[in-house]
Amino acid sequence: MGIPNLQVALDHSNRPDAVAAAVSVGHEVDIIEAGTVLLLEVGGEVVQTLRNIFPDKIIVADTKCADAGGTVAKNVAKYGADWMTCICSATIPTMKAALKAIQEERGQRGEIQVELYGDWTYEQAQTWLDAGISQAIYHQSRDALLAGETWGEKDLNKVKKLIEMGFRVSVTGGLNIDTLKLFEGVDVFTFIAGRGITEAEDPAAAARAFKDEIKRIWG
Ligand code: 5RP
Ligand code: MG
Repeated sequence: MGIPNLQVALDHSNRPDAVAAAVSVGHEVDIIEAGTVLLLEVGGEVVQTLRNIFPDKIIVADTKCADAGGTVAKNVAKYGADWMTCICSATIPTMKAALKAIQEERGQRGEIQVELYGDWTYEQAQTWLDAGISQAIYHQSRDALLAGETWGEKDLNKVKKLIEMGFRVSVTGGLNIDTLKLFEGVDVFTFIAGRGITEAEDPAAAARAFKDEIKRIWG
């Protein structure tokens, strides 16, 4: 079992705050995400800024793309994104087109991640694997958490099953340091934390605390 990566999600509603957060925590994490909220508000060019600041980091564009996969992937890859997300309800042609476009720009470093929201099936998940997409993001949506959902056994079982199928599974949604221990013994690929890092009093210290807890549990 590997040591899970730590990804910071920048879901700020303006570019200066996102860039400031990236500068303060980018070196503490493995992967930097231009979040959906940020991309919708300021546009894909913010990915270029992140790429300029962090030439060697993996950068994700969390587009949650539903259609026009090839065009969206080409656009974010041109700015330097290595990975891009597609929503699980997107069609296989959309996902395949996105994969092809991101790999044309980024080579084998380019990957598509399927964002799991709402209803999806393991049969569908197999079709993503068959299409060459082996990353999935298991998500507790912000709105579900606000409505009172919590992380629990049902989530662990789904994450484990996806890993057994051959996915590298990232986990996200309102994560804090205490949530991590729930996944002890599970081969999580990446923990994605947004507000748990960026809204902390000291974001860099919060990122280090996430890293330390990951090392304590999986190291
Ligand atoms: C929401 C997202 C967020 O980037 C992800 O959930 C991490 O944010 P937070 O830790 O603040 O919940 O993709 O759709
Ligand atoms: Mg996100």
